[in-house]
Parts: sequence; structure tokens; C-alpha cells
Amino acid sequence: MSHPARETDHAIHDQFTERWSPRAFADTDLSKDALMPLFEAARWAPSASNNQPWRFAYGLRGDTGFAKIASALVPFNHAWAEKAGALVAIASASTLERDGVTSANPWHAFDTGAAWGSFALQAHHAGLIAHAMGGFDAGTLAEALKLPEGYVLHAVVAVGHQGDAAGLPEMLQAREAPSPRRPITETVSHGAFL
Ligand SMILES: Cc1cc2nc3c(=O)[nH]c(=O)nc-3n(C[C@H](O)[C@H](O)[C@H](O)COP(=O)(O)O)c2cc1C
Repeated sequence: MSHPARETDHAIHDQFTERWSPRAFADTDLSKDALMPLFEAARWAPSASNNQPWRFAYGLRGDTGFAKIASALVPFNHAWAEKAGALVAIASASTLERDGVTSANPWHAFDTGAAWGSFALQAHHAGLIAHAMGGFDAGTLAEALKLPEGYVLHAVVAVGHQGDAAGLPEMLQAREAPSPRRPITETVSHGAFL
């Protein structure tokens, strides 16, 4: 699959441009068996001192876990994400313990972002779609999912089978396409940051 908005300046594996974040979910179930390989991919992400600070809590469509996560989404996201097969809350432990001493882990968010990247690519490889959302009420979600002390919520991800864009509200139908990226020269510089 190629898309005009996704032409690269340098040759890379197609997986990077073929993955995108649709909002049109098929309104179908997703089994636990189909979901677990995505967590498995996330599990193998690199992390500082192999601390693996990421944590995931999920719900499958129709169960109470799904309802709890969905209830924390902002209305804009709830409108389309409720048709996903699974909702996944991503958090991380902001501290680490070494020799009985607890200290801050400055890399917990960085590492958890890497894990989410692997999760998203594995979803793509499995023929699923995964769409991350920062639009949720963190207090509601923390309480609903019993987030332990010292953990930070980062995102909710809707996972499932892609559906027809015609099922989306009109305003979102126009946005249902792979997005471009800024030129690489605005992101990468030699010798010092731009
Ligand atoms: C941490 C994070 C938060 C996001 N929050 C939302 C959101 O609340 N609602 C939404 O529709 N999309 C959200 N997105 C999706 C981004 O808008 C999308 O990933 C970005 O535009 C790039 O498009 P692509 O994933 O299709 O390549 C979020 C993505 C990330 C990684």
C-alpha cells in the first residue's frame, strides 16, 4: 500500500509508512488470543536497565474493563473508540527499586513509548488497527482501574478490526486517511540541535 502523503526521502521498511491510526472500527469483537501478541511485542522493547516500567490494563468489548476505560474517554474519542474490539490503558512505574532503595526512574515514559511503538507495529502486522488517545480523564481512569501509587497513565489505545469510514461522523470521515510528516530536515541536524 502506498499513499501520496507517505512518500519517504530515504528507503525504509514499508511497515513504518503503512501503519496509521484509523478511527473507523468495525464494531466487532477481538479475542484475548488476538490481543496478547501485541503485549508480547511490547514486552520486548528496550528499557533503561531492562526495568520494563510499562504496564497495561485492558478490556474487551462488552466486558466491565472495556466499560471502565471507555467511561474515562473524552466525548470526541468515545464516539468512535466505543466501536473498538479492545481498549488498553497504558501506564508506567515512575520509580524503580535498587538494593531496597526507591528512586525516580527518569526514563519510564521514554521506555513506555518504545513499548507502545512495538505494540502498534505488531497490531499492524496482525492486520489490526491501534489508535492511541491522550484524550481521557486521568483521575477517572486511575480510580476505575485501581492505578497503584507511583504509576503514571500515558494513553488509552483502541484496538480492533478496521471498519468502513462511512460509519464515522461526517466531520471525521474527511480526516480518515494516513497523515504526512514534516520534512526530516526539520527534525534531524548534524552536530547540534536545530
Ligand atoms: C500519545 C498520543 C495521544 C493521542 N491522542 C489522540 C486523541 O486523543 N484522539 C485522537 O483521535 N487521536 C489521538 N492520537 C493519534 C494521533 O493524532 C496520530 O497518531 C497522529 O496524528 C499521527 O497519525 P498516524 O498515527 O495515523 O500516523 C494520539 C496519538 C498518540 C501517540
